[in-house]
Amino acid sequence: MLANDSGMMKPKDRNMNQKLVEQKVNGIRMRALIAGSGPPLLLVHGFPLSHQMWLPQIEYFQSRFTVIAPDLRGFGNSDISTGIVTMEQHARDLDMLLQVLNIEDPVSYCGLSMGGYIAWEFWKHFTDRLRTLILCDTKAEADSEEGITQRLKMAELVLRHGPEVISTAMIPNLISESSLQKQSHISENLISMIEATNNEGIAASQKGMAARSDFSNQIKNIRIPTLFIVGSEDRLTPPEVMKQMCSQVPDSKYFEVSEVGHMAPMEAPDAVNQAMDDFLSDSL
Ligand code: MLT
Repeated sequence: MLANDSGMMKPKDRNMNQKLVEQKVNGIRMRALIAGSGPPLLLVHGFPLSHQMWLPQIEYFQSRFTVIAPDLRGFGNSDISTGIVTMEQHARDLDMLLQVLNIEDPVSYCGLSMGGYIAWEFWKHFTDRLRTLILCDTKAEADSEEGITQRLKMAELVLRHGPEVISTAMIPNLISESSLQKQSHISENLISMIEATNNEGIAASQKGMAARSDFSNQIKNIRIPTLFIVGSEDRLTPPEVMKQMCSQVPDSKYFEVSEVGHMAPMEAPDAVNQAMDDFLSDSL
């Protein structure tokens, strides 16, 4: 099954350096936007979004990097798996995608929130594929019992009624009050990405997140340069959580963006791009 096109970026609007590719990956067709040339930069989106959340980063980094921005299994225009899609499955899809794209050099992996949960699994299983890590608005702990129950309820709700029942309600947790007031296009883009996502795709990764492993005692073993980026108003993965993780990872840096929430790369693209650029220039 192939998800509907969210229609946010038509081919004619796309920069000539960018192409959408579709690859057979672990039994599904996976769509990814590939742009530019240079060292590989893999951008892994959050839940329940698509590669489109990274458009400001793709535009910025494509002049010096090979930017790879996939739609994860069940999201955007990639195929959907029903049941449960674990964070490990997503990590295995990313590894296979890099293989079929012939990307052999280790990547700078940048993931937001669920993209961060997947990063831990990618690091665990494919350490040699990683050059640096950039973790935006994410955490290493697994869910509490209450968190798991909430996720399973949400999965059922979406399966029954579609993503429209959650899209608008999610916005206050995703962006800051200031972004909501001053940058209305961000909430509009988020709502259209969420509503373009298939019910089954959302439910499967929601169940996968509920079942995810706890990495909080393992991240101290990360041995590559790592950058933590967080919005000062992030309610889902607040600055204290990100600071705490940063204190555990030996070669790591912390960057907090003021007045923005959980979607820092969309809400404050200039500040986030600059922080990523400074970090990548120091680390590569
Ligand atoms: C995300 O942005 O990917 C979600 O907030 C992750 C989650 O639901 O924990």
